[in-house]
Amino acid sequence: MGPCVGLALWQVLVFVVVYLAGLSSATSQTQAPCVGADALAPSCQSRESLHYRDFFYIGGRYIKGTSGPTSGAILVDQIYVEKLTPATGVLQPKPVVFVHPGGTSGASWLNTPDNRKGFASFFLGLGYQVYLLDTQGVGRSSENDISSFPLTPGSTIEEVEKGYTAPETANLYPTAKNHNKWPGSGLRGDPIFEAFAGSIIPVTTNNVALENAVRVAGCKLLSIIGPAFVLAHSFGSFAPILWSNDCPQFLLGSINLEPANTPFQLFASLDPTKLGSFPTRPWGLVNTRLDYDPPVSDPKELQTQPVGQDTRELRRCILQVEPVHKLPKIASVPYLALTSNASVHVTWDHCVIDYLKQVGGNPEWLFLDDLGITGNGLFMHLELNNLEIAKVVHEWILKTLYGERSFSKLGQMV
Ligand SMILES: *[C@@H]1O[C@H](CO)[C@@H](O)[C@H](O)[C@H]1NC(C)=O
Repeated sequence: MGPCVGLALWQVLVFVVVYLAGLSSATSQTQAPCVGADALAPSCQSRESLHYRDFFYIGGRYIKGTSGPTSGAILVDQIYVEKLTPATGVLQPKPVVFVHPGGTSGASWLNTPDNRKGFASFFLGLGYQVYLLDTQGVGRSSENDISSFPLTPGSTIEEVEKGYTAPETANLYPTAKNHNKWPGSGLRGDPIFEAFAGSIIPVTTNNVALENAVRVAGCKLLSIIGPAFVLAHSFGSFAPILWSNDCPQFLLGSINLEPANTPFQLFASLDPTKLGSFPTRPWGLVNTRLDYDPPVSDPKELQTQPVGQDTRELRRCILQVEPVHKLPKIASVPYLALTSNASVHVTWDHCVIDYLKQVGGNPEWLFLDDLGITGNGLFMHLELNNLEIAKVVHEWILKTLYGERSFSKLGQMV
């Protein structure tokens, strides 16, 4: 008995010493700032909602490689999809698929650069099944069809500062000065800025190849998991338009944070001395075939005209000439756009909405200011009040599923 007690005491002593050592090192480490990428330190707490993660690649097709070592079969155009399941179990009836902004990857929906909950965690916390994907050519969906997917850097650091994280310092458009929700200074050298700037990665310059690949893989994904809601940001808004055209039966709603698919044109966004625009998206909202009614086999059959004055406050749109070709499949999917006050999008998002109305849609368009949410820029889903914006999306989902009456009741759950 004696030796047993001795052993136990010895074990207790070791435990106490190890425990105290652990405590003191934890104390010294938690004093290190958990800001920006420093939050990678083991002692910094995660604020993510508890969840499980699975991943799959979906879509893709075989092509014949060229000569030499790559002359065999090559699988191309597949996309990486991450399935995040709330640890509570799924409590919401329908999943949400997230499509990332241009020049970033699906990581944009995870924790924010200052290590707060991002959109994925917000929806997981409410019990949603969440799917994050990287579109072809991006991140973990980098493309094996190298010649069809030439790359260019996502955004320059100047564009990131002046356009996204600190537009108030450059004042390139009228409401830029109202921006005040980015965490930190939004400028080079700030650790939160550096953490965000690191998430900007190459994009392909071949939007036709990208759209053709996204529309196939996306509808395949939605056919397995849908019907689902799709939430896209800025450049990513081309995807729900294509899926609404090709497989509308699998989309319950298309939710767009500042959709960047301005019909028929691209604005020189950050140079206010240059009004006017470059022609692009010949099919209207995208660069590839849409099912118009009456049918269009060549986009040149779409007669268009400029509408409105082109000013710094409000840019000129390009719409169809009456009588218009409609887009009945796209119009059949409930559509929401959210626009903030201090993003350059406030000057041109009306063009997307006007076009959707013209082709027979009934899009809803919400200004964050009208909901009392002020001072946001383009990357609203990462800014200080990002979860207020996520809540607007959740409430719109409830309204779309259950109607206006249930909406006010269920909205209180949040
Ligand atoms: C943008 O914000 C400014 C400053 O708060 C405000 O005066 C203006 O009305 C807002 N614009 C819109 C469209 O909400």
